[in-house]
Amino acid sequence: MKNNNNQNSLPRLQLANLVSVIIFFGFGLCFGIILTFHLKNVSFNLHFTQLSISTDTDDIAAMPPPPPEMKIGLEKYIRPTEVMRDLSDEELIWRASMVPKVTRYPFDRTPKVAFMFLTRGSVLLSPLWDRFFKGHDGLFSIYVHSSGLSSNWTQPEDSVFHGRRIPSKNVEWGKVSMVEAERRLLANALLDFSNQRFVLLSESCIPLFNFSTIYSYLINSDYNYVESYDLAGPVGRGRYNWKMHPTVKINEWRKGSQWFEMNRDLAIEVISDSTYFHVFQDYCNGSCYADEHYLPTFVSLRFGKMNSNRTLTYVDWSKGGPHPSRYTRYDVTRDFLEKLRGERSCEYNGRSNQTCHLFARKFTPHALDRLLRLAPKIMQFNQ
Ligand SMILES: *[C@@H]1O[C@H](CO)[C@@H](O)[C@H](O)[C@H]1NC(C)=O
Ligand SMILES: *[C@@H]1O[C@H](CO)[C@@H](O)[C@H](O)[C@H]1NC(C)=O
Ligand SMILES: *[C@@H]1O[C@H](CO)[C@@H](O)[C@H](O)[C@H]1NC(C)=O
Ligand SMILES: *[C@@H]1O[C@H](CO)[C@@H](O)[C@H](O)[C@H]1NC(C)=O
Ligand SMILES: *[C@@H]1O[C@H](CO)[C@@H](O)[C@H](O)[C@H]1NC(C)=O
Repeated sequence: MKNNNNQNSLPRLQLANLVSVIIFFGFGLCFGIILTFHLKNVSFNLHFTQLSISTDTDDIAAMPPPPPEMKIGLEKYIRPTEVMRDLSDEELIWRASMVPKVTRYPFDRTPKVAFMFLTRGSVLLSPLWDRFFKGHDGLFSIYVHSSGLSSNWTQPEDSVFHGRRIPSKNVEWGKVSMVEAERRLLANALLDFSNQRFVLLSESCIPLFNFSTIYSYLINSDYNYVESYDLAGPVGRGRYNWKMHPTVKINEWRKGSQWFEMNRDLAIEVISDSTYFHVFQDYCNGSCYADEHYLPTFVSLRFGKMNSNRTLTYVDWSKGGPHPSRYTRYDVTRDFLEKLRGERSCEYNGRSNQTCHLFARKFTPHALDRLLRLAPKIMQFNQ
């Protein structure tokens, strides 16, 4: 063993030397690496301190403001002021169907009523509506879908209708394009998070009460107002198309006036529906009259429980025929307007109430001067 030891002593020494050289080299390398990192850190820290010193001493307000197009505050998001939007129907509806998961609003939300006018041409009775809305800013929004009109539609700058026309498409009365226009109006109105109730009106509609009365009736209502009833015969179940089966069955088929009033939750459901709407788009053609059947059927099928099944817009069908009575200036008297305001008794939030209708149609522009003279007095408009 000893011999073995002696014999190996020389190479052993060399080995030890080699090991120490390697260790030394290793140390050197490590030192070098550590030093490099350390120096880097130092220089970085130096930079950092310089930077923080310079920002600490500067006033934040003195920093240059972002360019105006970059200022996107909450205000612009929750209360869009522009109604003209370069969106396709599909894009608009997708955007409008979004619901915040956080239910508490981080802003002071005064609920508004969205007045949506579905018109052929301009809002003929706008001077009356201007009087009606006067003094109630912040409690309503206006949207106009006007078909059959060039894009140069204008309203005077002092009118509440000024700049409130949404991108509109042609509407054929009684066709699905009418329902598409209603969805377009609802989607535009939903973009404003303060809109809580949504009422559809035509260019021949008038209000029957002053703004405060209508506002409180709608805002405090627990129910939606989509007229819906089952009717036998050719103008009721006779318009059902068997190809709609089984999505819509004949006993689920409903009829009602297109002039609805609904809350935000239902409005979101209406624009988001594709199941029933596509069936109507495909099969409610010709003498089917989608505008009188789609909402009454959809709402009673899916959201019937909170529907009053009546409309808030008065119309007179008593003379028969396909069109209701039109009113001219000779019809507009004090007694006539009073009669419309308190005609019968209706259920409101589960109780009997004297007010059944808040709006009435169909009034011609010919009736405007008398309406302007009588309505503000009878309905106690502001001033
Ligand atoms: C604007 O509308 C009027 C009628 O409403 C029409 O006569 C005129 O040609 C239109 N102008 C343009 C530029 O479309
Ligand atoms: C009818 O409803 C309105 C709106 O809420 C209310 O102000 C009025 O007192 C009600 N009338 C009756 C007779 O209940
Ligand atoms: C609706 O009917 C018309 C003819 O009456 C037809 O040209 C059109 O293609 C139909 N539309 C649909 C979606 O079936
Ligand atoms: C309206 O009709 C639906 C059925 O479609 C029903 O569930 C609901 O109770 C009705 N509403 C009222 C106020 O009667
Ligand atoms: C609205 O009309 C009611 C009666 O219908 C009246 O009591 C109220 O004062 C009117 N509101 C305004 C703001 O004039």
